[in-house]
Amino acid sequence: MAREFTRVGVVGLGTMGAGIVEVFARNGVDVTAVEISDGALERGRATLTGSTDRAVAKGKLAEAERDALLARVDFRVGLDALHDVDLVIEAVPEHLDLKQRIFAELDRVCKPEAILATNTSSLSVTEISVATTRPNQVIGIHFFNPAPVMKLVEVVRTVVTSADVVADVEALCERLGKVDVTISDRAGFIANALLFGYLNHAVGMFEARYATREDIDAAMKLGCGLPMGPLALMDLIGLDTAYEILDTMYRRGGRDRRHAPAPLLKQMVTAGLLGRKSGRGFYTYERPGSPKVVPDAYTPLAVDAALADGARAIAKVGVVGSGTMATGIIEVFAKAGYEVVSVTRGAEKSAKVCEAVKTSLNKGVVRGKLSETDRDAALGRITWSATLEHLADVDLVVEAVIEELSVKKALFASLDEICKPGVVLATTTSSLPVIDVAMATQRPADVVGLHFFNPAPIMPLVEIVQTIRTSAETSATARAVCAKLGKTGVVCGDRSGFIVNALLFPYLNDAVKMLEASYSTADDIDYAMKLGCGYPMGPFELLDVVGLDVSLAIQRELYLELREPGFAPAPLLEHLVTAGYLGRKSGRGFRDHTRR
Ligand SMILES: NC(=O)c1ccc[n+]([C@@H]2O[C@H](COP(=O)([O-])OP(=O)(O)OC[C@H]3O[C@@H](n4cnc5c(N)ncnc54)[C@H](O)[C@@H]3O)[C@@H](O)[C@H]2O)c1
Repeated sequence: MAREFTRVGVVGLGTMGAGIVEVFARNGVDVTAVEISDGALERGRATLTGSTDRAVAKGKLAEAERDALLARVDFRVGLDALHDVDLVIEAVPEHLDLKQRIFAELDRVCKPEAILATNTSSLSVTEISVATTRPNQVIGIHFFNPAPVMKLVEVVRTVVTSADVVADVEALCERLGKVDVTISDRAGFIANALLFGYLNHAVGMFEARYATREDIDAAMKLGCGLPMGPLALMDLIGLDTAYEILDTMYRRGGRDRRHAPAPLLKQMVTAGLLGRKSGRGFYTYERPGSPKVVPDAYTPLAVDAALADGARAIAKVGVVGSGTMATGIIEVFAKAGYEVVSVTRGAEKSAKVCEAVKTSLNKGVVRGKLSETDRDAALGRITWSATLEHLADVDLVVEAVIEELSVKKALFASLDEICKPGVVLATTTSSLPVIDVAMATQRPADVVGLHFFNPAPIMPLVEIVQTIRTSAETSATARAVCAKLGKTGVVCGDRSGFIVNALLFPYLNDAVKMLEASYSTADDIDYAMKLGCGYPMGPFELLDVVGLDVSLAIQRELYLELREPGFAPAPLLEHLVTAGYLGRKSGRGFRDHTRR
């Protein structure tokens, strides 16, 4: 018989605790909600009522349900109020000594059969459990932020947690409508172990002024489909909590430098910039606790201002190449009203590209996204050529040929001879240094990276890569062009992986290392990232779609450029590629796709 949980206790009503109270009360469980002081208790109560009022306003909760929910919660100061609960979840700040003190106290106060759970993100559940006389009844129940929304719960079993306690907690998670994954006690468990290296890396990029906060966040949202960018997520988590989690993971998780908190984090925490909860973190919020970002001194000017900022006028655009990217880019420019000159290496290739562009535009017509007139006008704006000389009078060239430095350099040297002065020369390379291509010309100030994502007509993001020689005028032109294309252009420096790949692939590689270490299964890791962090795909799903060979190549480049030991490609990834398991395209990668 599974244990009955009729009343639970929640200790600490901050970012997580208040949400956890809501989860229980919504599911008919009575809650004793405990804080350290009257003031903190009132803040916790306000968070809960704010959240349930929003749910009512959005029509997700009836008023009567809200009232019943709130009536189930008994707000108290001090742990003594927890003498009759069946389970306690502790959600106080991420400090081992504090948690140990609270657990020793809970052990004294709570009835002998009560389960004592911690919501810690990174501390050792085992170390917390030994502060009690009942370590076999201590367990980790790690909710995700915001607790009422995120489906995942990581259930953390220590070597002494008894099997029936694990089973009872798993059953409880199901009753709460959550999906649980049960794992052992390791720093960061699944999701945070994969998430925080990425978050810290993003903070490092911002700190190094590699890109703005808006651009880093937009890149990950639009390039990877994430629900929020890393810096906005840091603000939601709370920078003090994030700092402690990173610090603990660094110390417990093998001193991986990627977990050593970025110096800026410590400064922000010391300055009281804790994120949403304090009203200011990487962004500024309407008031403490509000999710609404308001403009501040760092908010960039609208892109229209870039035009005034010296952007050159662009009317005619050359696109060189005949592959997937070139085809998509031709369509994007023609649809946006630019005159396009497509240059391939022969009439046959031009005919193929022309056919592909027509097919894609026709699809737009069939789906009702494009009128026949607009389709015909777009096609009418494209001229097809097999000679680079036809680019003599264009205003912008976008190169999308094979990803080989020697080929690109030779092409840029030719463009330098053919094109008129003042032309912006752009490369779509996703992994080569743009400066190498720029230096093949006599006009490196006019060269920029325009990294489109595949499929170009659909993906809303373009990374605008500035080298140390790119002029402000060229950059402004690139921004204005992206805006006219209806794309979000994010500006970044000329480093391996730009923003998106530099932040994405080390995380994927870490997931492979976690699998390799047998900490969890591919299915549970995928679940954890989808249901705990709202990712559209889990890391193994994504690796199989991208291709393991492509992923390995990108990871190798990152490792070679940055020499970061934590970026070394996972041996398992190398072995799978050697074995020919490349993902969906070869029928097998991390999963077997032939049987599905
Ligand atoms: N923030 C996140 O995204 C997130 C996600 C999952 C898990 N966690 C974990 O949840 C725990 C809480 O983190 P948070 O972000 O909610 O922190 P927080 O700072 O927002 O809230 C902590 C609360 O604990 C209260 N508190 C402090 N000492 C107390 C005591 N002795 N008795 C009762 N209450 C006390 C504080 O007044 C505060 O309201 C941490 O272990 C953290 O790692 C956080």
